[in-house]
Order: sequence, then C-alpha cells, then structure tokens
Amino acid sequence: MSKILVTGGLGYIGSHTVVELQDEGYDVVIIDNLSNSSIEVLSRITSITGVKPAFEQIDLKNKEDVKQFFKKYTIDGVIHFAASKAVGESVDEPLKYYENNITTLTYVLKEMTANNVKNFIFSSSCTVYGQADELPITENAPTKPAESPYGATKKMGEIIIEDTTKATDLNAIALRYFNPIGAHETAKIGELPLGVPQNLIPYVVQTAAGIRECLSVFGDDYDTPDGTAIRDYIHVVDLAKAHIVALNRLLKNENKAKCEFFNIGTGTGSSVLDVINAFEKATNKKVNYKTVDRRAGDITSAFADTSLANKELGWKAELSLEVALASSWKWQESL
Ligand code: UD1
Repeated sequence: MSKILVTGGLGYIGSHTVVELQDEGYDVVIIDNLSNSSIEVLSRITSITGVKPAFEQIDLKNKEDVKQFFKKYTIDGVIHFAASKAVGESVDEPLKYYENNITTLTYVLKEMTANNVKNFIFSSSCTVYGQADELPITENAPTKPAESPYGATKKMGEIIIEDTTKATDLNAIALRYFNPIGAHETAKIGELPLGVPQNLIPYVVQTAAGIRECLSVFGDDYDTPDGTAIRDYIHVVDLAKAHIVALNRLLKNENKAKCEFFNIGTGTGSSVLDVINAFEKATNKKVNYKTVDRRAGDITSAFADTSLANKELGWKAELSLEVALASSWKWQESL
C-alpha cells in the first residue's frame, strides 16, 4: 500500500482527494497548518471512509519541520495542495503569497529529492492561461502574464517544479484546474465559508439561503451569448478523482515526460446566468441578483479542451453542473 502525503489535506479540494485516495486503498498522511481549514474535517473524512488518515499539524514555512516530517515517514508520492488562494488578498499581501506558495514549495521539493521521493502532483490553475486566444483551451496555449500575485505563484510553481524534474529524479504532474465547485454527496465535507464569498457559487448558495441579500452579476456586456462571463465549472469530486489517476500514472511509471501538464475541467463553458438558472432548476430555490459593473481582472471566457487528460489519464468529468450545484446547496443546508 503506497503512502501518500497530502499537503493541505484538510482544505476544500484536499479533503475530497483524501477521501478518494482512501477509497482506492492508499495510506494517507495529511499535513495542514489549519490556516484556512478546521481540524473537524479530519473526523468528517474518517466518517466517510471509515479510516482515520494520519495527520501532522505542520506549517510548511518551517523548514526544519518539513525536514523532520520526511525523516519520520517513508512517502511514495506527494499531492501538494497547501497554498493561499484568495486573488484579492494576494494583491494586497504579495509577500504572504510568495512565502506561502513558493517558499513552502521549494522546501517540500528539497526534502522530497533529499529523501528520494519521486512522485509529485501539483495544484495548478487555468489562471496560467489568462484570457486565452483560442477556446477551448489546450495545454499548448501560451501562458500569459499573471493578473495577480496568486496567479504568479501558480505560474512560478510550474516552472520551479519542471526545473526540478530536469535536474533530479523527480517526476511531476501539474493539474490545471478550471473552476472547482460542489461538495461531497454526503455533505460531510465541502468548501468552508470564510467571510463574504469572493467566488460565484458560494455567493449564489448564500444568497439562496438568505445569508446574502443579492448576488451581483459582474458585467453583462461581455462578448458572450448572454453577455455574462463564461467559465468551466467542475465538480470537486471529479477533480479529486483526476488526482488519483495522475498519481497512479506516476507510481506505475506511465508518464511520458518528467513533468506533464493537464487541463482538468468539464470542457463545457457556462455563463453566470447559466449557473443561476441551473442552480434554480436543481434546487427549486430563487436567487436574487442584479447586474453590476465588470470585476477588475476578470476574463471573458475560459473553458478546457480536456482531450489530453481524457486520452492520457483515462479521466473524464462525469458529474453535471446541476449535480454539482445541488451538492453545494446540500452542503450549505448542512451548515
Ligand atoms: C477565481 C480566480 C482564479 C482562481 C479561482 C479559484 C479571479 C479573477 N480569479 O476564478 O484565479 O483560480 O477563482 O477558484 O478572482 N461572479 C459574479 N458575481 C460574484 C462572483 C463571481 O458575477 O459575486 C462571476 C465572475 O465575474 C466570473 C464568474 O462569476 O465571471 C466566476 O467567478 P469566480 O467564482 O470568482 O471564479 P474566477 O474569477 O473564474
């Protein structure tokens, strides 16, 4: 049974991935500093899978703790989620982002190579493409200058990892997520709300729940069929499963390059109004909304060409937008 380190394993995508790993029989050890997660998630994961994952409360900024961790455990692969992810905050506190997302990455990679741990999966983002010139977006689309320090850490992270694979025995896969949404069907884990939501789906759900008065639709004058911006919303459980197949590929030495990049999305673009309509259909709840100005830094349209992941990983998103939105609602109700 391979032992897999999941950093940020109590976070939103991390916790769903831990569940899928355990379901596949992997032995999981989680590192999390609880900066944007709750220790309660550990028992919730346990109640879904019946197996309590090992847990170390470590802040990856503490180099010595990272070193000691890799002395204590014999690890076969690492899935690295731990990072800060609020775009707006990253503009105000860039150094926090460079330290949390880049310094920590170098510490993890350094200890991996020092301890002969060869398999690494990285949480990247479609943000590396910016507004792509062609849609759907393939992995060959050029990366664009980052719109924020957060985006810059994802671009730099990919470069640091690829350089490391060139110089060492490390093999890596960077998964470029489109927009992750939804929650586990048990409603035991999901995205923990923290203050006023910045992302669309948490805002939609809280508006339907009466926590927020009215959703602001940021712009209806985009060059899209209904004027609102288009994204590729992927169910977090489908996304979690992509990590398992990517990990299997590395563990079985089936990767075709030392560092590979895959788009992880559904391949379908949905506008903001599509999302509102799908949510209302899936839940029978009304969403109050009004149109306001565009949000600075937003792009018009992004959705994935997923054929590379379909072909090479044998992975495909299976859950619909409605199913994802219904699961977000069920999660909200459980809160
Ligand atoms: C954002 C980040 C992206 C990050 C991702 C993580 C920005 C500019 N981009 O993606 O880098 O990887 O989150 O999940 O922040 N919208 C509304 N009203 C709202 C909230 C959003 O109309 O209250 C619209 C947005 O304008 C956008 C769409 O909904 O068109 C999706 O927004 P959001 O959920 O914030 O995701 P992204 O901006 O695509």
